Amino acid sequence: MTKDYGRYFNRPSHKKARKRVSKETAHIDFDKHINIKNIGVGKHYLLQTYGCQGNEADSETMQGILEALGFKPTDKEEKADIIILNTCAIRENAENRVFGELGRLKQYKTTKPDLLLAVAGCMPQEESVVNRLLEKYPYVDLIFGTHNIYKLPEYIETALHGKERVVEVFSEEGQIVENMPKRRDHPAKAWVNIMFGCDEFCTYCVVPYTRGKERSRAMGDILAEVDSLIKEGYQEVTLLGQNVNAYGRDKADSNISFAALLEALGKTAINRVRFTTSHPNDFDQATIDVIAKYDNMMPHIHLPVQSGSDSVLKKMNRKYTKASYLALIEAIKANIPGVSITTDIIVGFPTETEADFLETLDLVEQVDFEGAFTFVFSPRANTPAAKYEDKISLSEKKSRLKRLNERINAGYKKGHERFYQTTQYVLVDGLSKKSDKILAGYTPHNKLVNMPGEADLIGKIVPVNITEAKTWFLKGEIIGKP
Ligand code: SAH
Ligand code: SF4
Ligand code: F3S
Repeated sequence: MTKDYGRYFNRPSHKKARKRVSKETAHIDFDKHINIKNIGVGKHYLLQTYGCQGNEADSETMQGILEALGFKPTDKEEKADIIILNTCAIRENAENRVFGELGRLKQYKTTKPDLLLAVAGCMPQEESVVNRLLEKYPYVDLIFGTHNIYKLPEYIETALHGKERVVEVFSEEGQIVENMPKRRDHPAKAWVNIMFGCDEFCTYCVVPYTRGKERSRAMGDILAEVDSLIKEGYQEVTLLGQNVNAYGRDKADSNISFAALLEALGKTAINRVRFTTSHPNDFDQATIDVIAKYDNMMPHIHLPVQSGSDSVLKKMNRKYTKASYLALIEAIKANIPGVSITTDIIVGFPTETEADFLETLDLVEQVDFEGAFTFVFSPRANTPAAKYEDKISLSEKKSRLKRLNERINAGYKKGHERFYQTTQYVLVDGLSKKSDKILAGYTPHNKLVNMPGEADLIGKIVPVNITEAKTWFLKGEIIGKP
């Protein structure tokens, strides 16, 4: 079992994480850093991912690194030589799940003393979390954050051979690391990071601290990645960033923008382009135009609104109003006919009154969202909103969430019904959860379709006649081979 701190002991600092510097981020190549081959040969890893698509993409990188070192995947805890939890800090319940899981996994440290237990991702970026881990979970061998995944080989080597505990979290992002190995989870759909970090500082949110300053990948690197994905047979890419519409804002060259990136991708042979997440404040007409122009830009936009009340939006530091959001939606709908719009909403923000909440319900009614992730506000350590006086009772918060979800669920159903008895092109994802005779996949509008079919269609785009519309999915029948 690892005992002491050795070479690595570097805790996060909130003060440093808050800092923003204007200099452009340097790019480095991963290859120079991987010098410890084969340390995983004959060993197995188990990786658990929490949180957003950004974390899913990071996990695919960790898988790539682990497999480059010789580790093989396993889903059996008792078989694993290293267990990594790639964590999320966005709400308290996300964190509680991880602490619960660590408590449960402790047993394996007793039965298998050489097991390495690692906590990675957004939680270690927080001072309070690392302090709690060091105090209450001393059996965790490796703690690292979102900025230093590329150092995983040396961390594992140190813990494995040196038997030293590794705690290394950088609060200031160093550089963009290109060419890290990846083991992607899906054969036809790929995540493509276009930028990292967030400079929005919404008052409720930890992400600007856990992910650092906004920094964009070079357009050439993104296009090269998509190009090789096309060659490998991928059908769909989802461009990832906390605020994709800010892509290029940190670059000196003003020609580099999200719209310019989409324009370049519109001309490639990739069949489907999606992106997440958009911020209403930076979603411009040029972006709308380019989505409307190219057939491979999917007609689904996830545009988090958070609240329909101007006073709550102001307290959240969202920098737009209900009216400006509605105007943007109108422009999107006018230019991209039939577009599906989904959103994120927080209820029970500390200052939210019943009247504010009714503004949110009214906005939901006006936009006619076809889906939403809805949350009760969760105070996060060191964020401005955590200090706002919260006068709303828990039962009131729950009741607002219930009232909101009733309207949102009606939107899901309506969003499915409009495709009844139409032909939809479905990218077949895999088998449905319920049966190995039923395939599952997504339409351009991102609607889930279940249909009878054979597994050899997985990864293909097939025409499907929609025969039934449910609240959560569509049913259909394949009407020909691709
Ligand atoms: N960058 C994206 C997503 C951020 S996290 C965006 O700006 O939309 C995903 C969602 O989690 C947010 O949109 C928000 O609705 C929710 N969220 C973030 N912090 C939260 C908090 N402290 N309490 C409750 N929900 C929160
Ligand atoms: Fe958080 Fe706001 Fe940034 Fe989204 S835009 S990650 S909600 S600070
Ligand atoms: Fe969670 Fe970090 Fe994503 S806090 S939502 S995993 S950026």
